Amino acid sequence: MKFPLLFACTITGVFARSPFAGLNIAGFDFGSDIQGAQNISNSFGPVAALGNGRSDGIAQMQHFVQNDGLNTFRLPVTWQFLINSRSLNGSSTTVTGRASNGTLDQTNTAQYNQLVRACLDTGSSCIIDIHNYARFEGQVIGQGGPTNAQFGMLWSQIASMYRNETKVIFGIMNEPHDLPNLLTWADTVQVAVTAIRRAGATTQTILLPGTEFTHASSFVDNGSAGNLSRITNPDGSITNLVFEVHQYLDADGSGTALECVTDHVQDGFMPLAQFLVKSGRKALLGEIGGGNTTSCLTNLRSSLTFINENPDAFMGYTAWAAGGFSPLDYNLTMTPKGSPGNFTDQETVTQCVVGTRNAASNSTASGTTTSSNSRNSTSTASQGASPAGSSTAASSVPVAASTKLATGTTLETLTALVVLMFLVL
Ligand SMILES: *[C@@H]1O[C@H](CO)[C@@H](O)[C@H](O)[C@H]1NC(C)=O
Ligand SMILES: *[C@@H]1O[C@H](CO)[C@@H](O)[C@H](O)[C@H]1NC(C)=O
Ligand SMILES: *[C@@H]1O[C@H](CO)[C@@H](O)[C@H](O)[C@H]1NC(C)=O
Ligand SMILES: *[C@@H]1O[C@H](CO)[C@@H](O)[C@H](O)[C@H]1NC(C)=O
Ligand SMILES: *[C@@H]1O[C@H](CO)[C@@H](O)[C@H](O)[C@H]1NC(C)=O
Ligand SMILES: *[C@@H]1O[C@H](CO)[C@@H](O)[C@H](O)[C@H]1NC(C)=O
Ligand SMILES: *[C@@H]1O[C@H](CO)[C@@H](O)[C@H](O)[C@H]1NC(C)=O
Ligand SMILES: *[C@@H]1O[C@H](CO)[C@@H](O)[C@H](O)[C@H]1NC(C)=O
Ligand SMILES: *[C@@H]1O[C@H](CO)[C@@H](O)[C@H](O)[C@H]1NC(C)=O
Ligand SMILES: *[C@@H]1O[C@H](CO)[C@@H](O)[C@H](O)[C@H]1NC(C)=O
Ligand SMILES: *[C@@H]1O[C@H](CO)[C@@H](O)[C@H](O)[C@H]1NC(C)=O
Repeated sequence: MKFPLLFACTITGVFARSPFAGLNIAGFDFGSDIQGAQNISNSFGPVAALGNGRSDGIAQMQHFVQNDGLNTFRLPVTWQFLINSRSLNGSSTTVTGRASNGTLDQTNTAQYNQLVRACLDTGSSCIIDIHNYARFEGQVIGQGGPTNAQFGMLWSQIASMYRNETKVIFGIMNEPHDLPNLLTWADTVQVAVTAIRRAGATTQTILLPGTEFTHASSFVDNGSAGNLSRITNPDGSITNLVFEVHQYLDADGSGTALECVTDHVQDGFMPLAQFLVKSGRKALLGEIGGGNTTSCLTNLRSSLTFINENPDAFMGYTAWAAGGFSPLDYNLTMTPKGSPGNFTDQETVTQCVVGTRNAASNSTASGTTTSSNSRNSTSTASQGASPAGSSTAASSVPVAASTKLATGTTLETLTALVVLMFLVL
């Protein structure tokens, strides 16, 4: 039962691809760690005009838009950088920084805003990513660290700045992990959502982050999906509240190694897609990446092909990472080589971030991707929800197809699929 999957992918691939696709433009987050601590002096925003030999993240975004057709950029920044302080509560007694009491620092915020404005100027969607791992200087927000009110105040100030910008997307928090209590974390996320809406950003997309580094592969099973599902807008709706997931493909899932070992389709993206379609929700893949190696190019192509083929579940993806990273000696670099006006893309960008989009809109191309070999269609069949009224053959359709079917794909598609499957059988 390997071949039906191939055909199913081909069929779904003909119809759509992710509406949002692009890259992380990192740098303002540099110097931070997974404890949510940051030496602010090591922040190095990729805005060439700020000097000191910084990367030209603005020229990179223009290149990605003009030459690659990408349209979405995630712009990491830390809480500490925006308030220019490692102290939140008005106390100036901490050795690590001056007091700020949570008020945005005008100089630093203006620097970050240059990147956001330049992103918006390309016509792209621009994700404000608070890159703090649910923490501030080692302490978990709402669970011993900053209060939910302080976190809400951060988001209220940011949302006020961008409330008229329909293409700004608010990424509430990068990669929460090791949270004492997931239910309590969902309360914290709710406070941020409410703060954003009340500040006048009433319609923009907001990204909701789960625990365990918001990994796609544990998002449903380990409770993130369930707990975040109860978050609402102030009017009780869930309009434009989207889950953010991340996934790396190396052996320990950390996104550091040059080699990849899986595409995480079977154990991650597929069950997540099933959950999303069943519950009428969407997710954005905020980070994924790999090195310039055969193993990563193959697996990353496979993962992103799946994302592109399932826009009913995934609104899109931003790969990790360009911006401030060296184009030469960072394992996961997606920073283009060369200089503004004469950039050359990394293979991971050409083949995976960009190539899978083109393939997904091209029936022949998508049928020739590597994905069919790396997926286990037998186990897929047992997971796939059987669409109502379908034939026996269709009931073993893998998720790429059943995802589409479950959300009301045209009858013609269903018919074509069943016909193809009988041809194979
Ligand atoms: C922060 O980084 C700067 C520049 O690398 C360094 O000079 C300084 O000692 C660091 N501060 C702390 C507290 O580590
Ligand atoms: C402010 O936070 C610091 C730790 O960052 C803590 O030591 C201090 O007690 C707090 N002060 C107040 C007034 O809450
Ligand atoms: C810090 O902000 C809080 C809430 O806005 C306020 O109640 C408090 O007085 C402020 N503290 C200082 C030292 O400014
Ligand atoms: C948003 O638009 C409103 C209405 O035009 C205007 O009053 C306000 O100043 C704008 N806010 C920002 C932050 O641009
Ligand atoms: C999910 O939770 C289980 C049980 O707590 C844990 O063993 C597992 O590592 C978690 N999964 C991931 C991907 O973190
Ligand atoms: C919320 O998270 C907890 C802890 O991981 C889990 O036990 C519970 O099932 C989750 N709730 C929902 C509705 O998924
Ligand atoms: C880069 O990848 C190699 C090979 O996978 C690995 O040994 C090394 O630790 C990675 N470098 C970093 C900084 O993680
Ligand atoms: C553009 O980059 C290529 C490859 O790095 C280089 O060979 C070429 O000379 C560059 N062209 C210009 C006009 O700078
Ligand atoms: C990627 O790796 C290939 C093969 O090792 C090499 O030829 C190519 O130059 C690399 N691409 C980049 C952008 O470094
Ligand atoms: C799509 O398919 C056409 C015809 O087979 C081919 O010419 C074109 O290069 C393909 N495009 C991409 C992006 O693969
Ligand atoms: C495919 O799934 C079946 C059933 O779960 C399992 O026995 C088999 O080992 C899997 N094969 C691969 C290649 O993962």
